Amino acid sequence: MIERDPVRVGVLFSETGVTSTIGLSQLHGALLAIDEINEAGGIHGRELVPVQYDPQSNPLRYAQLAEQLILHDKVNVIFGCYMSSSRKAVIPIIEKWNKLLFYPTLYEGFEYSANVIYTGAAPNQNSVQLAEFMTANFGARVYLIGSDYIYPYESNRIMGELVLQRQGSEKLAERYVALDATEKDFAEIMVDIRQKRPDFIFSTVVGDSTAALYRAYADAGFDPKVMPIGSLTTSEAEVSQMERGLATGHYTSAPYFQSIDSAANQRCLNNLRRRFGECCVPNLCWEASYFQMHIFANAIRQSGSDEISELMPHVLGSEFDAPQGRVKIDPTNHHTCLYPRIGRVNPEGQFTIVRQARRSVYPDPYLVTHSLGDWAARLDALEY
Ligand code: ACM
Repeated sequence: MIERDPVRVGVLFSETGVTSTIGLSQLHGALLAIDEINEAGGIHGRELVPVQYDPQSNPLRYAQLAEQLILHDKVNVIFGCYMSSSRKAVIPIIEKWNKLLFYPTLYEGFEYSANVIYTGAAPNQNSVQLAEFMTANFGARVYLIGSDYIYPYESNRIMGELVLQRQGSEKLAERYVALDATEKDFAEIMVDIRQKRPDFIFSTVVGDSTAALYRAYADAGFDPKVMPIGSLTTSEAEVSQMERGLATGHYTSAPYFQSIDSAANQRCLNNLRRRFGECCVPNLCWEASYFQMHIFANAIRQSGSDEISELMPHVLGSEFDAPQGRVKIDPTNHHTCLYPRIGRVNPEGQFTIVRQARRSVYPDPYLVTHSLGDWAARLDALEY
């Protein structure tokens, strides 16, 4: 039985707004891990208690609620954020009060904060693999479409540079739409795509409008076998918001898909369903949110304190058997060793994994090694 003072942690994931489908999944990843930790006796008998707020997919609300969690609720550690704009809004608050943020989302890289642990993929763990796969299978003339904020700008810049290393490559266009874009906004872009005839489309569209992109693509009569959409942000969560079959044949690069055939993944998915029913759609950001909470719990068991200076030495270098495989927090850059995978959407709305890493790939958020050719050694570690 848990008797002593609880350990309170801040939890900031959007339950409303344009990224709420993926936000709800991240929330349930965190809550599932907290349940498991408490069931196993908590932190040496102390219950782990989430103090959670809904930032409504609004970066300003994230910043306000982060400060409220720190000053009013007195938490030392916050788990949260999906869009990079929300992370960028929270970091100055976290740094000002010297607290710790665990961030469970793929992002554009080129960032380091001593107060952040990054557990989603950096570009060398998803963009490089997607660029290699799409250009090898479809060609290197790419059309870039993204939501209008920092992650798509930066992720498109990286994809543009990666494909340009291929013979015959061309960046045909770079288009941005509002976060609440509709099918009409994308229909106009499809007219341009018909004219420019790319080999593939790279989508950095996020949240609810993802479904409108795939609908507009289908309405334009395009064929994913010839000119698919490749993405890092279209997960099972976004596919679940589409009509059945709409995303079939398109590709996503991610370290985790629900379809991973492993005992650890099945156990985790069964636990989620048993505890929370059909609460959310598990995806890469759900999994990162789940395993980062366990990494935190293991670290605080060792440090005995959630003060950043005492906790951090036990987080850095720590490992965990996550649903995607054994992950490790890199002690030098605070990012995570992960397993790149490429999935193709199947008619059931799940991903058929068409390529995956045998070993984890260490995080290189600054893309120090930048060319596709330089990645050959790492791609040797991939199997079909
Ligand atoms: C993102 O904004 N990092 C998906």
